[in-house]
Amino acid sequence: MSDREIKILAIESSCDETAAAVVVNGRDVRSNAISSQIALHTLYGGVVPEIASRKHIEKINQVITQALAEADASLDEIDAIGVTYGPGLVGALLVGVAEAKAISFAKQIPLVGVHHIEGHISANYIENRELEPPFLCLVVSGGHTHLVKVLDYGVYEVLGKTRDDAAGEAFDKVARAIGLGYPGGPKIEKAAAEGDPHAVEFPRSKVAGSPYDFSFSGLKSAVLNYLNGCRMKGIPIVQADVAASFQKAVTDVLIGNAMRAVEECGADKFALAGGVASNGALREGFRRACEERGVAFYRPSPILCTDNAAMIGTAAYYDYIAGKRAGLDLNAVPNLKLGESR
Ligand code: KG4
Ligand code: ZN
Repeated sequence: MSDREIKILAIESSCDETAAAVVVNGRDVRSNAISSQIALHTLYGGVVPEIASRKHIEKINQVITQALAEADASLDEIDAIGVTYGPGLVGALLVGVAEAKAISFAKQIPLVGVHHIEGHISANYIENRELEPPFLCLVVSGGHTHLVKVLDYGVYEVLGKTRDDAAGEAFDKVARAIGLGYPGGPKIEKAAAEGDPHAVEFPRSKVAGSPYDFSFSGLKSAVLNYLNGCRMKGIPIVQADVAASFQKAVTDVLIGNAMRAVEECGADKFALAGGVASNGALREGFRRACEERGVAFYRPSPILCTDNAAMIGTAAYYDYIAGKRAGLDLNAVPNLKLGESR
């Protein structure tokens, strides 16, 4: 690795945050600008893809200007542009990809395409300078639930994933069902803090023959059935108890499968990542489970758990120093698989 500073301008627009960041040598975040669309989508009870892409177009130049200004950097100093090109909403991804290609072409700056999940995993490097692969990572977001063996920078083995709903998606759907609205995760966490996690025994689903895979659709249906049952019998629904019991069921399954992998793989480092990783009960549960097993536990600060561009800059840096480059034919790939080469 050279002694020279490598400055990456990173862009993220895969879902409902328009974000840009300047990251130096992979772990030194000089700026992390985020324009969130949550308030806008709240009006519709969830992310509306068409509205998301239009808003990205409106905000992208603004957040890039802000990220450069906060980092006190100009485009002339940037060594590479890192951009999320999948997975995500195609119209949303396209805005970031087109912007990154335009800057790359106009300023003749190398382009690096980043996998969104690789970004989430890499968020752990930012505040933990000592963290190096190999380690195990559980990525829990609105679109993904992946248990990943991080073998090296940019080298991943997916041990397990969800067969149906992602963990964050389950939070969002259950929040809607119990009348908490969007975005579900933080609202369930807040309501759960006042509730009894043992009030309702929801199922801890397992996937037969695949101990590292997850399934949350059964849990979601169990919550809906419970709510219907209460309504039919005239039993009052205690929102906080349902939220706490649901959150405990999700947390138990995530911790159970992940710790099984930790033990079977003999891992000594474990990291959480993704939007759901900002959940306090989940973080505490994992902290305790790792401590009991003598495993070092890592998790990003909440601002680095949800979608942001700093994590994309970190992932892009390791790809950049490994010589990976994207051409101007880089396209958005909405269903990009982790570990797929570009
Ligand atoms: O990683 P992220 O920002 O976007 C995706 O890549 O999907 O994750 C968003 C997801 C949403 O489903 C949201 O409800 C969930 O993360 N989330 C949470 C919490 N904060 C966000 N879930 C549980 N507890 C939270 N505190
Ligand atoms: Zn994400």
